Amino acid sequence: MNLKHSVGCILLLFVQCRLQTRAEEVLELANSHMLSPGDYMKLININTKGTKYPRDCSEIFKWSEQSSKDGIYIIQPAKEPIGVFCDMQDGGWTVIQHITANSSVDFDRTWQDYKYGFGSLNDNYWLGNEYMHQLTNSPRPYILRVKLVDLNAEIKLGEYEPFLIEDEASQYRIRLGLYKGSAADALTQDTEAYLHDNQKFTTKDKDNDNYFQNCAKLEHNGIPGGGWWYDACAGANLNRRNVIYWQKDCNKEQMCKYAWMMVRPADYSQDHSMACPAQKNEL
Ligand SMILES: *[C@@H]1O[C@H](CO)[C@@H](O)[C@H](O)[C@H]1NC(C)=O
Repeated sequence: MNLKHSVGCILLLFVQCRLQTRAEEVLELANSHMLSPGDYMKLININTKGTKYPRDCSEIFKWSEQSSKDGIYIIQPAKEPIGVFCDMQDGGWTVIQHITANSSVDFDRTWQDYKYGFGSLNDNYWLGNEYMHQLTNSPRPYILRVKLVDLNAEIKLGEYEPFLIEDEASQYRIRLGLYKGSAADALTQDTEAYLHDNQKFTTKDKDNDNYFQNCAKLEHNGIPGGGWWYDACAGANLNRRNVIYWQKDCNKEQMCKYAWMMVRPADYSQDHSMACPAQKNEL
């Protein structure tokens, strides 16, 4: 390597470091523990003007006239800005959970971890019950979409409208409305004798379920269930690391590789088509 080249490299490193520290200093993200230093470099919508960030990914998608790409963005559902992964390909969804079967991210966590989130925004994560509450506690009702992918890459979807996570005083209780989709309705129907709708959240250190033991601690092949809105236990559980469970769609026999939970305002698509009608030549 010649001298000029190495000076260039050092300069480049220096500039990159400066940019990185600047971004981390300027941005006080409440969930900075879910971003690696490299993620700060890749943040798509750093806002230096000090104004409020968009409430969720659907707003970003709308403002970009549907041209934004999947990735990590900053949103501000309440007081504090947070980082989140936006699924823009599917139309501006805010990802609140993502798991890969047998991922290295540990989902066997405490109440506090489930409250403020864990994992990595670029990978598998739980956004945090507190932020799920902030997002869904809005005058505009939200939709929950569950996306499941099995080992043959077949995709199943399920949506609940409306979807609300109550506050911590209510133990982050889940409230679900009408269901539609190609996956089984595993949360509001009790086909397995377990009903998840209206249940409080349970973790290994906070037992709010309807079983005589703590459902979050029950193991399958040595892996506990993780936090979830358990009944007396589960007809679905997306937080057990070694088996993604969604009734007949994902289980020990019919294995799934990936699951996502994501949210978007319910009136979003109507709203959107009014704001920007599609041109005939775009279709
Ligand atoms: C997860 O790991 C277990 C144990 O190694 C294996 O039996 C199972 O097939 C894996 N699951 C998936 C979806 O790859």
